[in-house]
Amino acid sequence: MNGLFGFGQTLLLALDPERAHDLAVKSLELGLYPHTTEPDDKRLAQRIFDLDFPNPIGMAPGFDKNARVPRELLGMGFGFVEVGTLTPRPQSGNPLPRVFRSMSDRAVINRLGFNNDGQEAALARLKQRPAGIVGVNIGAGRDSPDRVADYVSGIERMGAVASYFTVNISSPNTPGLRDLQAPAALDALLQRVQAARGALPSKPPLLVKLAPDLADDDLPEVVGVIVANGADGIVVSNTTLVRDGLKDAAFAREAGGLSGRPLFARATRMLARVYKLTQGKLPLVGVGGIDSAETAVAKVEAGASLLQLYTGLVFEGPALIGRIKRALISAIERADATDLKPLIGRRAEEWAARSA
Ligand code: FNR
Repeated sequence: MNGLFGFGQTLLLALDPERAHDLAVKSLELGLYPHTTEPDDKRLAQRIFDLDFPNPIGMAPGFDKNARVPRELLGMGFGFVEVGTLTPRPQSGNPLPRVFRSMSDRAVINRLGFNNDGQEAALARLKQRPAGIVGVNIGAGRDSPDRVADYVSGIERMGAVASYFTVNISSPNTPGLRDLQAPAALDALLQRVQAARGALPSKPPLLVKLAPDLADDDLPEVVGVIVANGADGIVVSNTTLVRDGLKDAAFAREAGGLSGRPLFARATRMLARVYKLTQGKLPLVGVGGIDSAETAVAKVEAGASLLQLYTGLVFEGPALIGRIKRALISAIERADATDLKPLIGRRAEEWAARSA
């Protein structure tokens, strides 16, 4: 029995997207999901940010915003889970409907606007922290008078339970949030965040998640600020506001961030550019449009040490995780390698040179 989450993909795709999501989380809470029993192939293991990743495939943030099911997601075969985005106080987000799915484009548009139960509620759940890597994605409240203080509060409050932190300054659904990617604002933010992190006994690694809509010309300075502030990694990327090449015109008109297949080329090109700008020295998390074995391998070759996915899981179901693992092992074997290392970034030049 594969459980609802596994077997019921057709059912889930017939429901309103946000209801389907709630049902998927509930079915995970009830244990109705396909459990992986085999340990991961050792060749997929990596030690990154001083953490031992059993495999490189992570659940992207947004699925388990409130840290309800990290243990279950790990049990389904993910190598790590990122919960959040969490804001200091609970907030309800934008009016419904606010999540849209296009079967023909294999894509989702969401304008949720950081709906979440707040950091205290997630903290209480994560105190019974599962064995395994659980990152915490932090953001700022919609009406916050001091956004930087919200990130600092996220670090201070969640420090004891976070395997790593991701600073999310790239959601398109909180007005003005992406202004924090401007170099001066980013520098000020990261200095405060790093000071707060430095005061924690655990000092979890710090990642910064970027939007795929940053202009090419702005990217070197943004990456420079992230590196100068001692971040441990960069996540590329969040959802896009761009609507190029969509077949479904009514879908394309919805406001919000686009994810899934139409995001793949844009996010992968940017990943390769960030890989080149950091000379492959900083571990990168590649996310955006992974929905097959091929797209996962391509992300690694463009420069990702770790992968995350969300929309691909909506359309393909959890069997996608196993397919990607097998494809990565085949790619390792074809390269006569013993792990992923020689594959990471080997086609970054090619990807970075693509036209936008
Ligand atoms: C997201 N994403 C997201 N990212 C983030 O940093 N914090 C969040 O709260 C959310 N919320 C969210 C909700 C929904 C419904 C979706 C589809 C996405 C973005 C997500 O983590 C990822 O960066 C993008 O979706 C691109 O990856 P995929 O979906 O193409 O694999």
